[in-house]
Amino acid sequence: MTIEVAVPATIANLGPGFDALGMAVDLYDRFRVAIADRAAVVFSGESAGEISRIPTPLVARAAEAVTRRAGRDAVFAIDARLAIPVARGLGSSAASIVGGLVAANHLLGNPLDRSTLLEMAAELEGHPDNVAAALLGGVVVVTADGGVRAGRFLPRLDLDIILTIPDLAIATEEARALLPRTVSLSDAVFNLSRAALLVTALLTGDAALLPAALNDRLHQPHRARLLPGFANVVAAAREAGAYGAVLAGSGSTVAALSPPGQSERVGEAMRQAFARHNVKAAVRTVHVDPHGATVRA
Ligand code: HSE
Repeated sequence: MTIEVAVPATIANLGPGFDALGMAVDLYDRFRVAIADRAAVVFSGESAGEISRIPTPLVARAAEAVTRRAGRDAVFAIDARLAIPVARGLGSSAASIVGGLVAANHLLGNPLDRSTLLEMAAELEGHPDNVAAALLGGVVVVTADGGVRAGRFLPRLDLDIILTIPDLAIATEEARALLPRTVSLSDAVFNLSRAALLVTALLTGDAALLPAALNDRLHQPHRARLLPGFANVVAAAREAGAYGAVLAGSGSTVAALSPPGQSERVGEAMRQAFARHNVKAAVRTVHVDPHGATVRA
């Protein structure tokens, strides 16, 4: 039996929710997986070139982790069709991890429950926000100290999400290394109030709260130095009609949240703002994915 697991791209942090908020969007990596005599991984798709050089790909490591945890003895042939850009803050590694976990678990008859898969995914990824959104879909709120807990909901707002994807890779470890170990009480309050406001805005559909809710002081100001023009790109998105724009995960993609119907204007404004800083960027409009990882036999 061969199954296909589709796993959405994800926007972690969503501005103020560093390591705590994530959103799944409708751009997918697809993994066709079967139990086989010999382990094999083949890559194709737009992002395949960047990932196929890795000796033991994450998708295979995740699948192996399921067999070990379930006390089973199977290996898998994996055909990975990758559309999520790599090292651009859109959760490509989370998609590989979740794809491997979900596929192996399904093929072994679902020995592990969802919360176990989520724990394993967060451990493999090192932080929980991307993997929780990739697994569960919608918008997630996660905590990961002393076990992973995840709440998930669908926004009551119709949003266009405009991704401006620079021709510039950022390694998450490098972007995390830039962050200070301690923060001031006023910055902590700034972010926790906005993260709560953002969840309120998305849950109630009160779009008027979004422009204030999308601001952040914990990670974006420190990471901006990796991304020429970041502040101008955010300002350009707002001027063109978006509610605001955030660094997707640890970057380099900048994601604008916008009312429907403005995406062309917003995307073009962001692209031009990047271009003024000599950064070439591709623009793509996506929407919230409500399903998370799905299995098709
Ligand atoms: N929350 C993580 C970070 C996401 O910002 O480092 C990485 O994509």
